[in-house]
Amino acid sequence: MTRRLPSTGADDRVVDETGCDTSDIFIIHRIFRWGYRELPRLVRAVPAGDLERATTVGNAVELVDRGLHVHHEGEDELLWDRLERREPGCAMHVDVMKAQHARVSELLDVADGLLAEWRTTADPATGERLAAALDDVGTTLGVHLGREEADIVPVAARMLSQAEWEELGEHGRGALPKEAMPVQLGLMIDAVPEGERDEWFRANLPAPVRLLWALLMRRKYTAWHRALFPDGMPALV
Ligand SMILES: [Fe+2]
Repeated sequence: MTRRLPSTGADDRVVDETGCDTSDIFIIHRIFRWGYRELPRLVRAVPAGDLERATTVGNAVELVDRGLHVHHEGEDELLWDRLERREPGCAMHVDVMKAQHARVSELLDVADGLLAEWRTTADPATGERLAAALDDVGTTLGVHLGREEADIVPVAARMLSQAEWEELGEHGRGALPKEAMPVQLGLMIDAVPEGERDEWFRANLPAPVRLLWALLMRRKYTAWHRALFPDGMPALV
């Protein structure tokens, strides 16, 4: 489908094939719901003064917190204005999204400060404050993600082209350090329901990435989750 968008400056152009497949955001949201459910438990389980364990867990907290920040930054930069311009009725929902992102950002700042203190001391009282801060992120985020899935994603699916939607994923991949890629990709693969995983893998990853996964990244991801969850990694789905 080809349609001309309203003449409002930046969007005054023809967008081909308006409408996009937004299913990847549900995978990403599943990872964050899982992360903020599991990370506080891991933090609370670190023995007092065990700096090695605090480093392993702290690195995972940093990765998930950073991933969430980057994910929200992408939506702030690439999604809200487009949705508001193309679907003015969505403005109220966008305002809610912006306010929720701001609140999550404040809570992440609190968690970041506590993380910096805890990972160098493994002090249990600080660890408890960090775990509670991560619980707070998870609670606020849970509400936000639910609203976003109900009020925003269906509008984006209608109003954005596939290329525009994919800018969100590109932003996420570009803003995280290269070393995080095996974990980022491994979590995405595990967050796809098992029966759909092989097909998702073939349909969504370019051949060079599939090869890199098989040769190198899968091993790194396995080492990461085995170190983090020695008794077995809790399922993402
Ligand atoms: Fe969001």
